[in-house]
Amino acid sequence: MDSERITNAGYFEEDAEIELSLRPKRLSDYIGQSTVKENLEIFIEAAKQRNEPLDHVLFYGPPGLGKTTLAGIIANEMDVNLRITSGPAIDRAGDLAAILTNLDENDVLFIDEIHRLNRSVEEVLYSAMEDYAIDIIIGKGPSARSLRLDIPRFTLIGATTRAGSLSAPLRDRFGVISKFEMYSTEDLIKIISRSADIFGLEYEEEAIRAMALRSRGTPRVANRVLKRVRDFSQVKSDGFIDMQIANEAFAALKIDKLGLEGLDREILMLIIDRFHGGPVGIDTIAAALGEERITIEDVYEPYLIQKGLLNRTQKGRTASDLAYSHLGVERITEK
Ligand code: ADE
Repeated sequence: MDSERITNAGYFEEDAEIELSLRPKRLSDYIGQSTVKENLEIFIEAAKQRNEPLDHVLFYGPPGLGKTTLAGIIANEMDVNLRITSGPAIDRAGDLAAILTNLDENDVLFIDEIHRLNRSVEEVLYSAMEDYAIDIIIGKGPSARSLRLDIPRFTLIGATTRAGSLSAPLRDRFGVISKFEMYSTEDLIKIISRSADIFGLEYEEEAIRAMALRSRGTPRVANRVLKRVRDFSQVKSDGFIDMQIANEAFAALKIDKLGLEGLDREILMLIIDRFHGGPVGIDTIAAALGEERITIEDVYEPYLIQKGLLNRTQKGRTASDLAYSHLGVERITEK
């Protein structure tokens, strides 16, 4: 994947610093995802009243929409510790056992990319989630025995870009399953304004809106675009963010009016140029562009689909009329 892309919603190191300072700490500061948020508010309150851990929660949806941020807020609101890890980071069942036995009562364990847990680790999670106990095998061969160990009552928050990739036994153990939606322009405006205020920037409302429109419905992208525009305003101007400097930044970064960048346009152009608008299979698209199928499906397509530029059909992907007009290509229809 091209890691230079500014609008890529994947997580880069630079984001760690931004997201720490910009991340809201309370539910009341969290913008958007209103359905998810309103439900969680009730469940958190109820769990606190009963002095119990919150039920296990599964968040799913495209990357960069604030799943980790919301997990942090839940831990804060529950007044417990947050332990963050990810599916690929937990190699062996013993690693997970070590994490679980070190939790405090009611703590939140956040596992990102939970669909990538390996089988033996996932099995430990079943009893941990259901009975707050894990079975440890001691010894090898005929003398091996199993020992059941109680662990603190905890809340598992799992995050995934694809709920469909989760095994049924794992999915069924979550009491709350919430889908994250892309953010509206208005919500992105609020998020960018909030971040710009935290950075102490001076700006024109119109420039904030222009950034919101180019952020692919994703707060992580929005904050990254803001940072780049800030760089331009600081070096090329007096630090004030107006439309002129914003446009200069967008042009230099090659982000178009819809927030599309190189590969987004390449995907659409490929379908239009080589396959007469489609339908064309996802594997063909991936191979032609030298990208992984999963990256195209999880990172690029959701926004193209949401914007009505691309359609997923039974027979493959098709480019919409809007894609043609956005790219300035005339559709030639055969008689
Ligand atoms: N920063 C990233 N996501 C956010 C959100 N949903 N609300 C406020 N600030 C954010």
